[in-house]
Amino acid sequence: MTTPQQHQYTHPALAAADPELAALVGAEERLQAATLRLIPSENYVSAAVLEASGTVLQNKYSEGYPGRRYYEGQQNIDQVETLAVERAKAVFGVDHANVQPYSGSPANLAVYLAFAEPGDTVMGMALPMGGHLTHGWGVSATGKWFRGVQYGVRQDTGLIDFDEVRELALKERPKVIFCGGTALPRTIDFAAFGEIAREAGAVLVADVAHIAGLIAGGAHPSPVPHVDVISTTTHKTLRGPRGAMLMSREEHAKALDKAVFPGLQGGPHNQTTAAIAVALREASLPSFRDYAHAVVANAKALADALLARGFDLVSGGTDNHLILMDLTPKQVPGKIAAKALDRAGIVVNYNTVPYDPRKPFDPSGIRIGTPSLTSRGLATEHMDQVAEWIDRGVAAAGAGDEQALAAVRAEVADLLTAFPAPGLPV
Ligand SMILES: Cc1ncc(COP(=O)(O)O)c(C=O)c1O
Repeated sequence: MTTPQQHQYTHPALAAADPELAALVGAEERLQAATLRLIPSENYVSAAVLEASGTVLQNKYSEGYPGRRYYEGQQNIDQVETLAVERAKAVFGVDHANVQPYSGSPANLAVYLAFAEPGDTVMGMALPMGGHLTHGWGVSATGKWFRGVQYGVRQDTGLIDFDEVRELALKERPKVIFCGGTALPRTIDFAAFGEIAREAGAVLVADVAHIAGLIAGGAHPSPVPHVDVISTTTHKTLRGPRGAMLMSREEHAKALDKAVFPGLQGGPHNQTTAAIAVALREASLPSFRDYAHAVVANAKALADALLARGFDLVSGGTDNHLILMDLTPKQVPGKIAAKALDRAGIVVNYNTVPYDPRKPFDPSGIRIGTPSLTSRGLATEHMDQVAEWIDRGVAAAGAGDEQALAAVRAEVADLLTAFPAPGLPV
């Protein structure tokens, strides 16, 4: 472990100008180094992605698109954005890519703007079933400004029932259907959604925010050619900066571009665009295929080790990077478990499980995933140890045993010293 003083030298200008803020950055670096980060939507970006996102590209305004800007001085910025676009097209095998959305939620809002009018019916997976807020859930603008109808998973299997999805789509005739979500441990059947959307005359959007890196690395089937639009964040399994992309066939390019700018946003965040370009270059390398497959192998090994310890996993396991644990049989609520695990150096989030009898702010489950630990180089042989720590942490949460949590925390930090995280000062 490094000292606070050593960390300040990694940001010398910041430390000199604002020691209070520099100290917080240093503290976050140490936290990310010493904890086992299992939140499936998080990752460690490479030092190269980190550097690109902290460049003078941040100083430039560039409303519009390459070659069609409303500001001058775009000699370099146009090339940066074109690089990002071309790399996205190559990595995902699409005709068109827009790399300007500020994040996943604005990207999805742009999709609505492109293909629906306020009041139109839209369809997505319900939030408590694993969908995202922006898939038409009531508290989101997408559920207030559109009429959101929602599908879920079956209670007995934890899997999507395509007969039910089809029936709902044909009855409600939504303009837009979203597939994908935030807490889905199983492979998304894009072909089945594609058939339903075509039958219902809907625009089909695959929101692959969680699994974009797995798709790029060939560890999850691609939504191409089954869907009309692909929406993704760039900061989860894809290991890029916090940002988003919209991709499509050529026929939807104009509508999507117009919706992002000038429909919804002003100037793109060029430093983020640059970092997206770097992440996409990294995602095109053979080593990224290994990474994506290792993420899935680790998640399957971790799921098996948890099942062996009597944990209840939604859908019985995982096909991807994510595991949704229902802690009801352990008689420990998700929030209490998540907070105790945090004290044990294991960072997860509490999460509703399908048909959860508890409230979203105090649900029955926790959601974990393997993208970050795989970025540090942990492999399948470490997953039994990770499961054991989770088991001890959950048991200690139930028993209120702070000593046991402290013991796990020390063991976690000890193992992680051998697996330095990308992008963090050593
Ligand atoms: C499936 C999905 N779509 C969209 C988003 C929204 O992304 P952001 O938080 O960048 O707005 C998320 C974020 O968790 C997500 O999981």
